[in-house]
Amino acid sequence: MPEPLRILANRAEVRRAVRRLGTELTEAYPNGVVLIAVLKGSLIFLADLCREIRVPVEVDFLAISTYEPDTGRVRIVKDLDRDISGRAVVLVEDIVDTGLTLGFLQAELTRREPASLAVCTLADKVARRILPTPIAFRGFEVPDVFVIGYGLDFAGRYRNLDLIAGGDLDVLTADPDAYVSHFYRGTARA
Ligand code: IMP
Repeated sequence: MPEPLRILANRAEVRRAVRRLGTELTEAYPNGVVLIAVLKGSLIFLADLCREIRVPVEVDFLAISTYEPDTGRVRIVKDLDRDISGRAVVLVEDIVDTGLTLGFLQAELTRREPASLAVCTLADKVARRILPTPIAFRGFEVPDVFVIGYGLDFAGRYRNLDLIAGGDLDVLTADPDAYVSHFYRGTARA
């Protein structure tokens, strides 16, 4: 049975969660924080999150490419612009699934000797975790479905939804545009 499309968090719920995380980060880092986002999925979350933080924030970006899915074997294709040694750093993720990517990134960033390193994720798919990883700041725990929206994509689609929804990976694999007509007015393919 294909998993029906379901809304996991609507626009208001996403906004509330981002505000709450902003408050938590403000309290945790009174002297300011460096937010590191992993492109491209974390971009929208980062943009809203940093504006909910009431202490000085710097942002930097990493881009990675996966060698093989579900192995944690990733390669940095765009590195940070700044040195993070001695800085309070928060790695901002769109979603933590198996945790393997996060494990790689944490090891890589730890080598650069930040004063502290914590993780903030919009969505946490706890049921799929292979590598247990402490997550200090979490937006939503999500079920084991394929999550789209608010930065999260399937084959480049759905990033610009202002909600997060869970779909069926088999449905999306068969047709990446399967949910387009549900969410968008225009259904023409680019
Ligand atoms: P992990 O290494 O399995 O924790 O997952 C790493 C990456 O896979 C995430 O940062 C996402 O980019 C992508 N990913 C995992 N699950 C989903 C999902 O449900 N929707 C969209 N992207 C996902």
